[in-house]
Amino acid sequence: NYYAVIMAGGVGSRFWPVSRTAYPKQFIDIAGTGMSLIQATYERFKDIVPTQNIYILTNDKYRDLVKEQLKGIQDYQILCEPVMRNTAPCIAYACHKISELNPKASIVVAPSDHLILNTRQFTLDVSNALQTAESNPCLITLGIQPSRPDTGYGYIRYSNQELGNGFKKVAQFTEKPDKEHAESFLKSGDYLWNAGIFIWSAAEVLKAFETQLPEMNKLFLQGRNVYNTGNESTFLKENYPNCQNISIDYGIMENAENVFVLPVEFGWSDLGTWASLYSLAEKDENQNVVIPSEGTILHDTSGCMINIPEGKKLVIKGLHDYIIAEANDTLMIIPRESEQEVKQIVADVKTKY
Ligand code: GDD
Ligand code: MG
Repeated sequence: NYYAVIMAGGVGSRFWPVSRTAYPKQFIDIAGTGMSLIQATYERFKDIVPTQNIYILTNDKYRDLVKEQLKGIQDYQILCEPVMRNTAPCIAYACHKISELNPKASIVVAPSDHLILNTRQFTLDVSNALQTAESNPCLITLGIQPSRPDTGYGYIRYSNQELGNGFKKVAQFTEKPDKEHAESFLKSGDYLWNAGIFIWSAAEVLKAFETQLPEMNKLFLQGRNVYNTGNESTFLKENYPNCQNISIDYGIMENAENVFVLPVEFGWSDLGTWASLYSLAEKDENQNVVIPSEGTILHDTSGCMINIPEGKKLVIKGLHDYIIAEANDTLMIIPRESEQEVKQIVADVKTKY
C-alpha cells in the first residue's frame, strides 16, 4: 500500500546557466555524484516502496527526459501536467489518481531536486513516517534543523504533544516568512525548516483538500471517471489550466489541523542556489568547490564555486569568493555574494540575446 510521488516540474532558474528551462537542474548531476538529482531520488525511493508504485509528476515537455533518465520506468508512472500550476494541483491530481487505484494507499510526496547524504537514515525515517501515516489520521512533514534565516523555506514550530516514534504535533507552519520573522524564528530555537517531503494516507490528504481547496478537489474528483483511461490527457488539457496556482504549503499545510513533524538528520540540502551547493560540497584546501574536480588549475584562488563542463580546462589566478559556471554556450562569473541576482541575470540575458 506504499506509494511515492516525485515532483519534477520546476525549472530551477537560480542554478543558471547550468540549469535552464529546456533542461532543469533535476535532470543534471549538479553535485557531481555520478547521477542526476532525479535519478538519485528515484534510487532512494526504490528502497522504500515497490518500484511499480513510484510516480513522477512533471510537465509534458519533460516526459522524454524522464524516460531517458529513469531506465525501466513505465509510461503509466509518468504523470504529465499540461501547464505548471505549482505543487497543490499536481499533488491533488496524483493523490486522487492513486487513491482511485488503491484507496488504502499511503504516499510519500517529495521534490526531485534535493541532495541527501545519508540515504540509509533517509530510508529509515521515511519508512517510519509511512507506517505512522497508515495508522494515524495525520499529515506528516520532515523537519530540518535550520542554520540561517533563509526566507525561501517553510518554518515549523512544534509543540510537546507527541504521536510516538518521534513525531511532534505542529503548532504553527509559516511558509516563506519575511527576513525579520525568519531571523526571530531562528533565534528562538523552537523552529525547524520544512524539508518539503510529505507523508500521508491518500484518504487524509484528500480530506484536507476537500476542506481547504474544495474547488480544486472537486475538479480532480470528477477526473476519477477518466483516470487510467484514454480520456485522461484530454481531461487534463481542458481542466488543469483552470486550477488555482498555489503551493501545497500555502494551500494546505499552513492551515491544516493535524500536522506532525519528524525532526530528521540525514544531511539535507534543497540545492536551491549555488551557495547551497557550495556550503554542502567537499572543498579543497583553499575552500574552493570544483565540479568536476579534474582539469582545473588554481593559483592563489579561494572560496570559489566552480562548475564547468566535463573535459573543459580552466586556469585561474588571484580570484576569491566567485561563482564560475559554464554550460552550453554560456559562461557566468559573479561574486558569490551576488548569487540571489541570478534570477535577474537570466531575465536580462533573455531580453538581450
Ligand atoms: N510537477 C510539478 N509541477 N512539480 C513542481 C511544480 C509544478 O507545477 N512546481 C514545483 N514543482 C516541484 C519542483 O521541481 C520541486 O522539486 C518541488 O516541486 C518543490 O517546489 P519548489 O518551487 O522548489 O518549492 P520551494 O523550494 O520554493 O519550497 C518548498 O520546499 C522547501 C524546501 O526545499 C516548500 O515546501 C518549503 O516549505 C520548503 O521549505
Ligand atoms: Mg525548492
